[in-house]
Amino acid sequence: MQANAPIGVFDSGIGGLTVARALLDLLPEERLVYYGDTAHLPYGDKSEAAIRSYAHGIVAFLREQGCKAVVIACNTASAVAYDSLKSEFPDLPIYNVIDPVVEYVTLGDGEKAVGVIGTRTTIKSDIYRRKIKEIRRLIKVNSMATPLLAPMVEEGFLNNAVSEEVLKEYLWRKPMLKVDQLILGCTHYPLLIDQIRKVISRDIEIVDSAHVVAKKVAVHLESENLLNQKKASLKSAFFLSDYTPVFEANANRFFGEKVTWIERNIW
Ligand code: DGL
Repeated sequence: MQANAPIGVFDSGIGGLTVARALLDLLPEERLVYYGDTAHLPYGDKSEAAIRSYAHGIVAFLREQGCKAVVIACNTASAVAYDSLKSEFPDLPIYNVIDPVVEYVTLGDGEKAVGVIGTRTTIKSDIYRRKIKEIRRLIKVNSMATPLLAPMVEEGFLNNAVSEEVLKEYLWRKPMLKVDQLILGCTHYPLLIDQIRKVISRDIEIVDSAHVVAKKVAVHLESENLLNQKKASLKSAFFLSDYTPVFEANANRFFGEKVTWIERNIW
């Protein structure tokens, strides 16, 4: 594996750009190859078998592109495809967006309640609760599927009256009222963080996985001597399985700068 090779990042669509952004902010010397599987979006309501087969195709593509490591920048794919990807690609460092967050919330001791919100498939997998409990049995984990949030963000409903009502509908439900920390278990939710904070209106920590994950990837690549030592000469590349202008407009919101897409259907 070469240190100057790119880092592969994939998601069901453009939401994973929040993770790509955090990675490039922390590791500006690196080059990314991003794959957004917009042809199969959303993953959040798909079967586990379908998500696994999409994820395997994408990682094979990223490996062909010469990636030195792959970040699964999608909570749903991390929840259901990580283990099978690790066994199919044993030589490739693969990171998911769940383990670094679990590690983070289980630091320290004492009892607390952690809330998790995500897509239906992520919450149904119960992965956050299982992994948190494996490390700290006494942490109470309250999970809730919030399937309206991702499409709402994609429609650009942020910081407006509709998004406020939807967030209240979810976050004012009983399981969420007593949490000390809230995990944003979906790529799209960091864009709602300010309004989530406002709706919760208590002083709790909201864990935005993009930054926690970027730090974990940086530390691990460094320990493997896989960090690029000088600024990559090529620019990052961004692929989509199905291009539409809507994705292009939305992508700028997720990434904070203009993204030039290459349409590449790998199926
Ligand atoms: N990327 C997905 C996730 O983080 C959200 C969008 C989808 O359902 O595909 O869970």
